[in-house]
Amino acid sequence: MSSTRREFLSTALAAGAFTLAAPSLRNVRAAGPLKVGLLLPASGTFAPLGEAITRAAKLYVASKGGSLAGRPVTFVSLDDESAPPKATELTNKLVFGENVDVLMGTVHSGVAAAMVKIAREAGVTTLVPNAGADAITRAMCAPNIFRTSFANGQIGAATAKAMLAAGVKEAMTCTWRYAAGEEMVGGFKETFEAGGGKVTKDIALPFPDVEFQSALAEIAAAKPQAVYSFFAGGGAAKFIKDYAAAGLSGAVPLWGPGFLTDGVEQAVGAAGNGIRTVLHYADGLDNPENKAFSATFKAAHGIDPDVYAVQGWDAMQVLDIGLAAVSGDTAKKDAMHAAMAAAKFASPRGPFEFSASRNPKQNFYARELKDGKNRMTGIAAASFADSGKGCRA
Ligand code: BEZ
Repeated sequence: MSSTRREFLSTALAAGAFTLAAPSLRNVRAAGPLKVGLLLPASGTFAPLGEAITRAAKLYVASKGGSLAGRPVTFVSLDDESAPPKATELTNKLVFGENVDVLMGTVHSGVAAAMVKIAREAGVTTLVPNAGADAITRAMCAPNIFRTSFANGQIGAATAKAMLAAGVKEAMTCTWRYAAGEEMVGGFKETFEAGGGKVTKDIALPFPDVEFQSALAEIAAAKPQAVYSFFAGGGAAKFIKDYAAAGLSGAVPLWGPGFLTDGVEQAVGAAGNGIRTVLHYADGLDNPENKAFSATFKAAHGIDPDVYAVQGWDAMQVLDIGLAAVSGDTAKKDAMHAAMAAAKFASPRGPFEFSASRNPKQNFYARELKDGKNRMTGIAAASFADSGKGCRA
């Protein structure tokens, strides 16, 4: 255990922040099993996203015979419920109570920001397999924090590029009012308006509300050229169905970061046809890694993988690269983290590498949902990195 982690542990214990099971005090492992703590939603609107990440992470380890760099991998999971007020206690439980070697989480930007605050102080190797909170790889960046998904502002900007390229000049935005929605709208607006576009109105609902009727009535009355929207999971499925039921699908084209349509294709059926999105993954991407991964995932779970599964799979690829560099000796943290930061590999999403703030530099694909598939229609932004603004580590 690092001295920072030990000091933090005594402070947290003194503050009565959590209950520590006595045996875990002896749980300092130099070798033997590698314990990975999963902080992910298993309930609520983002539960399917947490499940996809968990399945893919476990599948990756299983595909390596259950061990990485000679260390058998065990997982311990906590349900964060996508509830920011629970994040600190749950992260403490994994990092100090379970004494995990590696922390992996989570989906919700607010939960992830609280988790990372603890993880960077503790120095624990941390993989963020979804949450896009900009600060994680901007002002809060740290050498032990790696994100295998995207930054909210980054994907907002990529989506703006695709909309401008498609001739959209004016849009309303509609999202949840929390970090992910606000930052995806913020990144979108900056690029859209710099490219000559105009945002006429922002609509924001409390997370995780799914009462969309008044928002839809506002859109129907204003009839903008397009709507840019971030919702995900169960909320996205409901929004898409309500949008179609309100008669808006044909009248006002719906756009957004691809979370709007990923993982909900079957649930929305024909209501999703024609929705245009931008994401760092698309169904049926034509590369050998995607073919192999999709076949493995489908064989194990009976469904095609989505972007969340890809992000979970790649988080384990990054970890594997770090562990291999130190022959599984996680005490050699600096060397392990340096190898992870330098990771460069062929992902199911296409080429993967980190920018300086340890956030992916990657392709963003323009896609259209048709008959249950988010098919690529072009490249919205090639090898596109987030600014990493404010990252000094
Ligand atoms: C987020 O909170 O960062 C997030 C949640 C679901 C999908 C994408 C981003």
